[in-house]
Amino acid sequence: MQLLFLYFLITCLCDFADANLQDITSGDPPYNICTSSNNYATDSPFENNLHNLIGVLSSNASDTKFSSFYTGDDSDRVYGLYMCFNYNNTIYVDCKNCIATTASQHIVKYCPNEKEAIVWEDSCLLRYSSENFFGKLDITGNIPKANSQNVSDPESYRSVVNKTLSILTKKAAYSPANNMSATGVEPFTKAETLYALVQCTRDLSGDDCSSCLQTATREILSCCYFLRGARVHSRSCFLRYELYDFVNGAYESSVSSGNKAKGKGKCLPQLQHKNLLK
Ligand SMILES: *[C@@H]1O[C@H](CO)[C@@H](O)[C@H](O)[C@H]1NC(C)=O
Ligand SMILES: *[C@@H]1O[C@H](CO)[C@@H](O)[C@H](O)[C@H]1NC(C)=O
Ligand SMILES: *[C@@H]1O[C@H](CO)[C@@H](O)[C@H](O)[C@H]1NC(C)=O
Ligand SMILES: *[C@@H]1O[C@H](CO)[C@@H](O)[C@H](O)[C@H]1NC(C)=O
Ligand SMILES: *[C@@H]1O[C@H](CO)[C@@H](O)[C@H](O)[C@H]1NC(C)=O
Repeated sequence: MQLLFLYFLITCLCDFADANLQDITSGDPPYNICTSSNNYATDSPFENNLHNLIGVLSSNASDTKFSSFYTGDDSDRVYGLYMCFNYNNTIYVDCKNCIATTASQHIVKYCPNEKEAIVWEDSCLLRYSSENFFGKLDITGNIPKANSQNVSDPESYRSVVNKTLSILTKKAAYSPANNMSATGVEPFTKAETLYALVQCTRDLSGDDCSSCLQTATREILSCCYFLRGARVHSRSCFLRYELYDFVNGAYESSVSSGNKAKGKGKCLPQLQHKNLLK
């Protein structure tokens, strides 16, 4: 009887773990969080300000990869910012498209009438709130996503990823000329090379940027160190690493299916370039 109970307990725990991993390895962008404690009415001044804000941010997205803005007075004021991920610009001319077309539409579609929302797309994030969140670190509700395929040597991969992300975090956080972003390349096995990108929203202090990326690194390594590539979508930062040069537009070359992890996720990196390429 006790053994039977133990068996059920173990089965349940395993199911739970699988469900989590499956969550992480499946589902394409957009991802969004609506903080629904507070709503605005259709045709209200807040809605008008929000549309105004999105318009201003969209029009600037062709020039810079980060911009923040606020508009309106008192309880109708809305604060917003966008960040385009720091992929090689000469290949992807996509920041404008990601903000002005994709993210702008998704944020009102998936968070209708919400006074606070964020949406992450393949190559950008867009966020607004009725509260002033500029310069405030927020690492709640981070969304990790990982490739569903295993690496050949998980323990050494964990250490290479950890070391690389830690170096890049310092570069992004404490070298102002880097615009709070850094990319890196590090050999892994004879045949494989690690490529990584870290980036913070540029309203943060260096210390907050560092905290955000350290937290994101810890989260992704605790769930997914044995998987080939991953991203963490945070309100305050973004990180990604893969075994191919995604920063310069490379795709995942096919990996032997023997390596496939248990969760039946889609392989994110194969999907992501659809709307990046002009
Ligand atoms: C938009 O870009 C213009 C020109 O570069 C700049 O003057 C303005 O401050 C920017 N606005 C925002 C909200 O970033
Ligand atoms: C960006 O892509 C171009 C065109 O492929 C290449 O010449 C350039 O070296 C790349 N830049 C970086 C920083 O890798
Ligand atoms: C990553 O490296 C830091 C030191 O830089 C260490 O404290 C931490 O335990 C490492 N994490 C993992 C998951 O290896
Ligand atoms: C930093 O941002 C500025 C303005 O957005 C841009 O002109 C500059 O090239 C960026 N620097 C780097 C290293 O990306
Ligand atoms: C992938 O690696 C994890 C962690 O080492 C392991 O639990 C899982 O069984 C592996 N999956 C496959 C298909 O090898």
